[in-house]
Amino acid sequence: MEKKCYIALDFVTTEEAIDFLDLFHDDLPPVKIGMSLFYRGGLGFVEELCQKGYDIFLDLKSHDIPNTVYLGVSQLSQFPIDLLTVHALGGSDMIKAAVSGSKEAPYHPKILAITQLTSTTQEQLTNEQGINESLNDSVSRLAKLAYSAGADGTVSAVDEVPRIKAVTEKNFLCVTPGIRFEGGAHQDQKRVATPAQAFKNGADHLVVGRPIIHSEDPVSSYHQVIKCLEGVDYK
Ligand code: C5P
Repeated sequence: MEKKCYIALDFVTTEEAIDFLDLFHDDLPPVKIGMSLFYRGGLGFVEELCQKGYDIFLDLKSHDIPNTVYLGVSQLSQFPIDLLTVHALGGSDMIKAAVSGSKEAPYHPKILAITQLTSTTQEQLTNEQGINESLNDSVSRLAKLAYSAGADGTVSAVDEVPRIKAVTEKNFLCVTPGIRFEGGAHQDQKRVATPAQAFKNGADHLVVGRPIIHSEDPVSSYHQVIKCLEGVDYK
């Protein structure tokens, strides 16, 4: 399976996103559309990028009652989207509902379960979520839950990939955000790693936003990540 770097198009307007993508000329890098652009451009924007041929990861992180998630995923699965996200914390019935919504619609986007956000710390897990286990154990437990409920993979930090593969199976997709080049600013991310570490830990796909979209040379930053995914050791 080809490892991909999904560029997180975390822009305010769809025009900014299109101007950014134009920098790549005829290349069509895989893209992740999150809340900001989806709320702005809606399914019309998703459809526009689908028609242009982009591989799309639609990251709306559904977390609701099973029937609502089923209906939502069924709607989104009318479009040729590669990957969709739900929160594993929504529980096994909700994950199963998302999987059914995807399987019954014309396209079958893969369902990824968010384990613990890469912006979450152990302190927040304990004091704010009231979860009395280590972050590692929480991520492994949620990954096992997602796997048993039929999800195609998880979203986690790079460090957690080997443990997730160990408690699920090697083909269970591990998609990792929280990617930073050596010495790059972490911003709001807490559990970060370099693209080279992601490759070494066996991540299947990477999500990279600000280190590419705010780079002085986004195209070369993107290619730097791709080289790491091909095993060429950049930091
Ligand atoms: O700019 P940066 O590389 O930090 O962007 C990471 C992207 O990945 C954001 O769009 C964020 O919403 C998403 N994401 C994440 N952590 C998760 C799941 C998704 O950072 N666990």
